[in-house]
Amino acid sequence: MKKIIRGGTVVNARETTRGDVLIDGETVIAVGQIGDVEGAEVIDATGCYLLPGLIDNHTHMSMPFGGTTTADDYNTGTQAAAAGGVTAIVDFALQIAPGGLQSSLDEWMGRAEGAAHVDYSFHMAITRSDEGTFKDMPKLVDQGISSFKVFLAYKDVLMITDDIFLRILEESKEHGGLVQVHAENGWIIDRLVTEALGRGDTAPVWHALTRPEWVEAEATSRAVRFAEQADAPVFIVHVSCQASAEEIIAGRARGVAAYGETCIQYLFADITDLERPAPEGARFVCSPPLRDASNQDFMWDALKFGHLQSISTDHCPFDDPQKALGADDFSKIPNGLAAIQHRLPLMWEHGVKEGRISMNRLVDVCSTAIAKQFGMPTKGAISAGMDADIVIFDPKQPFTFSTETSFMNVSYDLWDGKTVAGSVRSTLCRGTVVFDKGEIKTQPGHGKFLKRIPFDVARQGDVA
Ligand code: URP
Ligand code: ZN
Ligand code: ZN
Repeated sequence: MKKIIRGGTVVNARETTRGDVLIDGETVIAVGQIGDVEGAEVIDATGCYLLPGLIDNHTHMSMPFGGTTTADDYNTGTQAAAAGGVTAIVDFALQIAPGGLQSSLDEWMGRAEGAAHVDYSFHMAITRSDEGTFKDMPKLVDQGISSFKVFLAYKDVLMITDDIFLRILEESKEHGGLVQVHAENGWIIDRLVTEALGRGDTAPVWHALTRPEWVEAEATSRAVRFAEQADAPVFIVHVSCQASAEEIIAGRARGVAAYGETCIQYLFADITDLERPAPEGARFVCSPPLRDASNQDFMWDALKFGHLQSISTDHCPFDDPQKALGADDFSKIPNGLAAIQHRLPLMWEHGVKEGRISMNRLVDVCSTAIAKQFGMPTKGAISAGMDADIVIFDPKQPFTFSTETSFMNVSYDLWDGKTVAGSVRSTLCRGTVVFDKGEIKTQPGHGKFLKRIPFDVARQGDVA
């Protein structure tokens, strides 16, 4: 089945062009002035921008964490993704069983299969070390799981030790993988949390005050130094503050293949949100925590100048009763924010409209750079031969954030009541309309597993 999207403006990372998009089945066939094509369905996009489907490389669906499980599964979470113009996610499979990685990956594959509305893949989070783990790493790369993740925080839960971290970097490098790092010093956080609770400081804001910026910067510096030692690429996830970003910049200046992302919460929320009255404050508990707003100009510039390569959401939703597990003790509040639907409208309003980044840079940091970083060569651009993953974005149709317009499976919206100028009208994933004018059009299972290519093949030595 052919489709023509007519009358829009195509925005890719490198250029903006007026033109139509011809789709055949799942693939873009041509971009430009397209005449009549017999039997083709025509989608009118006059006045709209056509963006490559966004990719969210940092999500946590159906993840057991903090004594509970994230509120979105692969069905609900990818509906919210599509409503926000996202056509592919890379979620985290956690190593939950001893004896290697394969059984944990199989478990996560089973959760997503037949459920997702947009395409999906996984990073493998390594939380244990046994020889089976190291043996499985190349097998996972062969299966398209070309990135790994380690935690230098969450002591006694997910944290690994430095010696294991170095070995993972070495093994990953050998097999063409990429290691991602949650960079906070879990040992120091543990001490600061114990001290705070001992003083009776139990409110949500203490989550942030016991994870200060230097604790993130130290772990980031360590991760970059370890990568330098192993001569391996490293990607620092959810960089929250200037001090941490500066460690990546310093590493890149020394020639380390160090990369980093930030997340929308670090641009559009800050530590004062944790002081909101219950239950709102707990909704903003995530790690690394929300920072002083004085960091935000630097983070925008880091995205603009390419010091940080991309922005994701770290979507890790918990509803109020789950957040209430920590009503009397901030350390028991499950960490994570509900955000997957909101990257595009927020980035458009405060990035593009307010002149912080160009439309093309928005496309790069939300899609194109992510496709390259994580080995998805058919994603991240609207051009002939690419997957027909397209967002029709109407810059003149306002969007109001609310639980009514949210597809995320929580009973609140963090930006409730806020109105922005533009909205996602439709989202096509591989040529199929998944989201259109407020409604989901697909059945669970439209989304397919994405076999990603290894980092070294995708990058070919390009570290920009
Ligand atoms: O608070 C967060 N970020 N929750 C998700 C798990 C993680 O650390 O990425
Ligand atoms: Zn993390
Ligand atoms: Zn995360």
